[in-house]
Amino acid sequence: LTLREPRHGELCHDAAGAFTEARLRYAAAVGLRQRARAEPGRTLELLDVGTGLGWNLAAALAALQGTGARLRATSLERDRELLVRVAALPRAASGFPERCHRALRTALGAALADPGRAVELVLDGRSVGELCLLLGDARASVGELPAGRFDAVFLDPFSPRVAPELWSGPFLADVARCMAPDATLATYCAAARVRLELQRAGLRVARAPRVGRKAEGTLAGRRLELGPADARLQARLARRLGREAPGGGEFQLPDEERTPPIH
Ligand SMILES: C[S@@+](CC[C@H](N)C(=O)[O-])C[C@H]1O[C@@H](n2cnc3c(N)ncnc32)[C@H](O)[C@@H]1O
Repeated sequence: LTLREPRHGELCHDAAGAFTEARLRYAAAVGLRQRARAEPGRTLELLDVGTGLGWNLAAALAALQGTGARLRATSLERDRELLVRVAALPRAASGFPERCHRALRTALGAALADPGRAVELVLDGRSVGELCLLLGDARASVGELPAGRFDAVFLDPFSPRVAPELWSGPFLADVARCMAPDATLATYCAAARVRLELQRAGLRVARAPRVGRKAEGTLAGRRLELGPADARLQARLARRLGREAPGGGEFQLPDEERTPPIH
């Protein structure tokens, strides 16, 4: 289950499947489960940009199941009405993802009553973490967050074509500031301009594999391990950065978008 934004017509997810994208593009890509297993008992701090239907958060809960790790998710969303509808969804899917999504919907309902306050995430009757919902423009919310706090970032706004502000240099620099030294950011976007801004913010950038219809996504982090192809990508971006003044240039049309708008 996903939604189409009525003004620009973009879907919130790849048409191949919302939970598939959430699981592979985000939760697995940042290695949540491996991190939880490597540091048992740890509370993992997640920054979730664009709460939307909460599938990425549900996938994070699913990834941590059985590890003993807790999740502290900070989720940024500006569309309150959307969240009210999501929290009230009777049933988003069946089986396994539904249990995690139901836990998320329940927490979302409580968070909406008191945005900014952490509410408990309860899965199958057990407390598995906390959700802190920050309602408003993510550009303002991220500025309030402490430096170096997050172990993982899910960067999932609408495409640069329709929401360039959440792919801009200043916003990405602010997101990078909130990341712990060994944190990983995942996004579906593979636009060269976005990768350049992530590198300008001090992060290494790597290609993330195909998910659904989207050939490539992006990973970023200060300590990201790079294969030979990613090292070449780094070098190419660095050459481009060297040619451009910081913050220079208008946001160019990206070389991709998530889903063609409907007309
Ligand atoms: C692609 S959807 C996110 C899907 C979501 N991550 C999920 O797992 O279901 C993008 C979301 O970003 C939100 N958004 C757009 N612009 C925003 C802004 N400036 N600040 C905060 N949220 C924004 C939209 O309302 C929408 O819910």
